[in-house]
Amino acid sequence: MNAYILGIESSCDDTSAAVINNNVLLSNVIASQAIHKNFGGVVPEYASRAHQVNIIPVIDQALREANIQKNQLSAIAFTRGPGLLGSLIVGVSVAKSMALALNIPLIEVDHIRAHLLSHFIQEHDFTARSPQFPYLCLLISGGHTQIIEVKDHHTFVTIVNTMDDAAGEAFDKSAKILGLPYPGGQMIDKYAADGDPLKYKFPEPRVKEDEFSFSGLKTSFLYFVRDNLKTNPEFIDQNRNNLCASIQHTIISILAKKLIMISEKTGISTIAISGGVSANSALRALLTKESVSRNWNLFLPKPVFCTDNAAMVAVAGYYKYLNKDFSAQNVTPYTRYNS
Ligand code: KG4
Ligand code: ZN
Repeated sequence: MNAYILGIESSCDDTSAAVINNNVLLSNVIASQAIHKNFGGVVPEYASRAHQVNIIPVIDQALREANIQKNQLSAIAFTRGPGLLGSLIVGVSVAKSMALALNIPLIEVDHIRAHLLSHFIQEHDFTARSPQFPYLCLLISGGHTQIIEVKDHHTFVTIVNTMDDAAGEAFDKSAKILGLPYPGGQMIDKYAADGDPLKYKFPEPRVKEDEFSFSGLKTSFLYFVRDNLKTNPEFIDQNRNNLCASIQHTIISILAKKLIMISEKTGISTIAISGGVSANSALRALLTKESVSRNWNLFLPKPVFCTDNAAMVAVAGYYKYLNKDFSAQNVTPYTRYNS
């Protein structure tokens, strides 16, 4: 079987289209939306409008870069959810229209599962390694923070879930408190590189084994910064690097400790991370260090496959294509992950 699949991603604020030949990536075009920068978060109304403007040019460019004609496509894979409804509707509608017009199968993909399967994207140089099943995946994005056991390309078991905020939100909200633009995770990563991670201590949440929680941390960071600003209005400017390094250190320690505990408990030592926060350089360094002493087989995605992209949607669609797991034309988006 030789399949060409177009993947479409529009769940949040990135409009993306990718073409794969089986699991080999031919193109991956991503249009990010700068409009949200000054709002401290994604504004849903602006996001769906920007998707409408971007989606056809992005798909066109993905096909051109892949050197593929529309009529060579075998199927259209698209993100059905979870995400922002107005954003998802744009990608879902375009995917349905294309599948109908080209008379080819339509494949719905869950955005979380696409992140989990991003480790199976192969590129032209054929150097990418993929994890053996079962593996544990720490899924850390702007909307989700979970540890999931991936048993095969179609079977996913959630082991740990967040009670409140996601790790990405903890980064983004901390960045906002420091006056940094959205999305703040990358900015914190950058400033933290020149800071002392142990300069300030923030309390780690006391939660059950199968839980993450980040909202208390955000609040204590907010109060700490606010109290210090009262006595020193220059506090942020004088301590930006140390503040970023310390909050980042707290967030990644919470993530790493739980991942280590679940690995020990399940006996699974094939470990992967995915989602936007998996691009964090300190987390990658910490887990790389842990992987040596713990004898983990560790999988860190390329940064471009950490944040939202259609390549992971296309590859997740490919495994459903092999099973002939297709969707009907009356499919509608959903906003929450159902594990
Ligand atoms: O997976 P993603 O692109 O979108 C969602 O599905 O939510 O994740 C976006 C999140 C944002 O919260 C962003 O701040 C965070 O990933 N992020 C990072 C880094 N790059 C992106 N967080 C920490 N360090 C980074 N280098
Ligand atoms: Zn995502």
